[in-house]
Amino acid sequence: MNRMLLVLAALAVTGAAHARTLDQIKKSGTVTIATEGAFKPFNYFEGKKLTGFEVELAEAIAKQMGLKVKWVTQPFDSLLIGLSQNRYDFVIASHGITPEREKAVSFTSPHYCTGGLIVARPGGPKTGAALAGKTVAVQVGTTYLENVQKVKGVGDVKTYPKDPDAQQALLAGRVDAWVSDKFLALDAIKATAGKLQQGDLLFQEKIGMAVAKNNPTLVTGLNSALAAVQKDGTYAKISQKYFGQDIRCK
Ligand code: ARG
Repeated sequence: MNRMLLVLAALAVTGAAHARTLDQIKKSGTVTIATEGAFKPFNYFEGKKLTGFEVELAEAIAKQMGLKVKWVTQPFDSLLIGLSQNRYDFVIASHGITPEREKAVSFTSPHYCTGGLIVARPGGPKTGAALAGKTVAVQVGTTYLENVQKVKGVGDVKTYPKDPDAQQALLAGRVDAWVSDKFLALDAIKATAGKLQQGDLLFQEKIGMAVAKNNPTLVTGLNSALAAVQKDGTYAKISQKYFGQDIRCK
């Protein structure tokens, strides 16, 4: 387990006693949700306005639960730490559900399914095997980092505080490849017209909302509300708006 997650696991033991239960949140009328705000189209700023697929989905879920929303934005790699310190009720920031993270936090049912895509400049590496000896850019604290490190013979793995910085490093020629979310990366390939090339999916993952450990009532409440908005067409509408397709796990 890496150091950040060790700290998290320790915090989970001491902090979780104070996490707000579903009842306490409902009594207050407002749920506090954290995200990053730099992972377009999932969570990002349009000027001063926080928006994106996950932002709209979380707002629909809160509405379904009869709650108002207060948003908090933080750097990606501090989101789960803040959760274990009970600074907010849950996190929606494209976290892959991994056994390591599950030692420190609880996850809801997945709110979408995706994978880590290899991206390079034209002529660059396209497959996991082709990453041998290559320099790869990834956002710090992500499953991209974890999975790139597992690639046999991979060269330097450079980490960046924000995913757009990792993409920029590839465009500027400072690295040979970038691994990021497949939907996000496909948008980036389109937007940069000819400058980037799509490679293979390096791995697949299920993405969930993170809740403090030992807060089962909130997990259950979020799961019911997610199921309800998936059933009544709200989810499909938001997903269509951002991706032109329904990205729920099948
Ligand atoms: N899915 C990846 C992970 O689980 C990346 C998430 C990045 N999210 C973000 N808001 N930057 O680590």
